[in-house]
Amino acid sequence: MEIKKICVLGAGIMGAGIAQTAAVAGFNVSIRDMEAHLVENGMASVKSNLARAVSKGKMEKNEADKIMGRIKGTIDLKEAAQDADMLIEAIIEVMEIKKQVYKDLDTICKKETIFASNTSGLSITEIASVTQRPGQVIGMHFFNPVPVMKLVELIKGFSTTEETMGIAKAFVEKIKKSSIEVKEAPGFAVNRILCPMLNEAIFVLSEGIADAKDIDDGMTLGANHPIGPLALADMVGLDTILFVMEGFHKELGEDKYRPAPLLRKMVRAGYLGRKSGKGFYDYTK
Ligand code: CAA
Repeated sequence: MEIKKICVLGAGIMGAGIAQTAAVAGFNVSIRDMEAHLVENGMASVKSNLARAVSKGKMEKNEADKIMGRIKGTIDLKEAAQDADMLIEAIIEVMEIKKQVYKDLDTICKKETIFASNTSGLSITEIASVTQRPGQVIGMHFFNPVPVMKLVELIKGFSTTEETMGIAKAFVEKIKKSSIEVKEAPGFAVNRILCPMLNEAIFVLSEGIADAKDIDDGMTLGANHPIGPLALADMVGLDTILFVMEGFHKELGEDKYRPAPLLRKMVRAGYLGRKSGKGFYDYTK
């Protein structure tokens, strides 16, 4: 099946990045969120990324305009999804909400449409179970910032067919990224390794072993990471890291996955990182 039209559900950081990446690669994209201001924010972030590329001389202005012209924002689920060949869902990480959306999509979409979820840890098998097309449901996990990061993890659910896997792999190549194939497991492969490292950095901070800047300098200068773990935690979102760690702790049942109490406290205080303006660093100044 040839993929031409993509529907991205969720216009947050990940959804907007996915929509941008697909539009840059020439796909027509609809991006849908529940409220108009959320859709507008997502479109604005794509526009500003493209404007930055133009100002750096990396893209012609008319190319940026063409890319924007391929993205259509809407709050109407039916309008967004009914003619899509592939949907990429990047909505809130709450299984019950996802299930309801997938049930609706199953009746709205064409029968061949592939359903890809950008979940960073929920079960693809469970998501697929509420649809009449479990073979066409796959995990397609992007990394933040999506336009820059080269990897997409492809996750096979219990029923995902080889054909679906092949279509997803070909799509990842078309958007000029690389894929790795991962079995369904909490955090898949990358977050299973990355998030405990970020969590550990928060323990190191809260135990007073080093301050935030020194922890981050330690890992950039001492381990050649592109940014430090606390700066990365702010970029990913502290609520996301807490969600992932809680999932590991619950599913894998080992103390080594216990979320750092400071992480929990910061999330409760609304310190979510860049998206809320404050995290381990202050982004409001
Ligand atoms: N959106 C789009 N483009 C962006 C961007 C964003 N949010 N942030 C940076 N960029 C682009 C810049 O425009 C720049 O592009 P050019 O080279 O074409 O000019 C390029 O990225 C480099 O940016 P900077 O020079 O400003 O900064 P940098 O060199 O420090 O790179 C970074 C920024 C790419 C984010 C780098 O710090 C990095 O690789 N960090 C690690 C990111 C990472 O580990 N991500 C995975 C998070 S885990 C996850 O996402 C999964 C999950 O489920 C939790």
